[in-house]
Amino acid sequence: MHILLLNGPNLNLLGTRQPDLYGQIRLEDIENSLKDLAQQKNVAVSCCQSNAEHEIIERIHKSKGVIDGIIINPAAYTHTSVAIRDALAGVAIPFVEVHISNVHQRENFRHHSYFSDIAIGTIVGLGAKGYDYAFDALVTTLQK
Ligand code: DQA
Repeated sequence: MHILLLNGPNLNLLGTRQPDLYGQIRLEDIENSLKDLAQQKNVAVSCCQSNAEHEIIERIHKSKGVIDGIIINPAAYTHTSVAIRDALAGVAIPFVEVHISNVHQRENFRHHSYFSDIAIGTIVGLGAKGYDYAFDALVTTLQK
């Protein structure tokens, strides 16, 4: 089984970016924690972060036939990107949507996601641990 962890814009700044909202953990720590978890379960993980919509779309396209499941935090593209939604629907790879902060407690424009209705599930507001929970849920679903 091969899982892709895909993080969108500004998540490369985790650790220093608005720590009151996103905590102090760095993206590298999140990726390493997921790789550890994956190793224990004999699952391969690839990680990608991009600030560019077209790069995220291309990474999704390249995943077809290679990646079994995706954990995605589309970041600000959650609320804007029909194009990334279409890419995920186009490759038909099951995915879990993660948000570190509780977007429902924030500005109204963060309350709508272009992804949630086509995701297996969403994990919101549980901090960086949400990625680990998403991994567990995704692997369990794919094993069924
Ligand atoms: C986020 C929430 C988004 O609204 C925001 O634009 C982000 C991060 C989160 O993980 O809480 O960049 O996806």
